[in-house]
Amino acid sequence: MFNFFKATKNNEELNIELDEKNIPQHVAIIMDGNGRWAKKRNMPRSMGHKAGVETIRRIVKEADRLGIKFITLYAFSTENWKRPKDEVNALMKLLVQYLKSEVGELHKNGVVLRVLGDISQLQEECRKEIEDSIELTKNNTGLVLNVAFNYGGRDEIVRAVKNIVIDIENGNINKDDITKERFSEYLYTKNCPDPDLIIRPSGEQRISNFLLWQCAYSEFWYSNVNWPDFSERDLQQAIYDYQNRDRRYGGV
Ligand code: IPE
Ligand code: IPE
Ligand code: MG
Repeated sequence: MFNFFKATKNNEELNIELDEKNIPQHVAIIMDGNGRWAKKRNMPRSMGHKAGVETIRRIVKEADRLGIKFITLYAFSTENWKRPKDEVNALMKLLVQYLKSEVGELHKNGVVLRVLGDISQLQEECRKEIEDSIELTKNNTGLVLNVAFNYGGRDEIVRAVKNIVIDIENGNINKDDITKERFSEYLYTKNCPDPDLIIRPSGEQRISNFLLWQCAYSEFWYSNVNWPDFSERDLQQAIYDYQNRDRRYGGV
């Protein structure tokens, strides 16, 4: 059992006891609200993204401490290309900076870094940094950190279908071999269990093209805080609430 003693908003002492045996194996987070966080402070949106990177550092550490095995962070969607060029460039730059400054520490802690999404569309420098980080950490055995970058759930499914067609045409598989399990192996998340818990801060309650196939039986948890303000305590609270849900999977 982990015990947490922290003051709640009305200053009552609150003791959250998490059941160590029921820690979600895979937690996925839609890191949202960076822009609004910055706007509230009269700062440019890019400052919000920068602050959001600090939250990533804290939350990845906390996830590891709590015994989560897989964490997936939605960092850039296939629709985010619609944003002004400056913002898109700032997000690419931040990813490169994050990897440059963090991958050594992640590697030291046994973290396996993976990227979900089509990285072939990214600039050379960005792609190279991603590939090097994946290569460096691929044999680690600790927490798996999936960064969803240029990721879209529909895009992922279409890509899977195309690759299945290619495999059928090449005679590698037969139409009748395609099962739900087999299909999952064509997704970016192959070798990764479906998310148990999907967290979205910033008050929005939508999926925004995230893990569409994988979220079939995920538990959803929303919070009004913007991602830069998302705390370790918020993650603990999400897990606490998750542990008090009844996952029925269509049964009784
Ligand atoms: C971060 O938050 C999510 C990314 C796409 C990087 P936003 O940039 O969407 O912030 P809001 O939603 O405009 O506040
Ligand atoms: C979802 O956030 C994508 C990421 C967090 C990377 P958005 O801010 O792009 O989603 P919408 O536009 O509010 O649905
Ligand atoms: Mg947003």
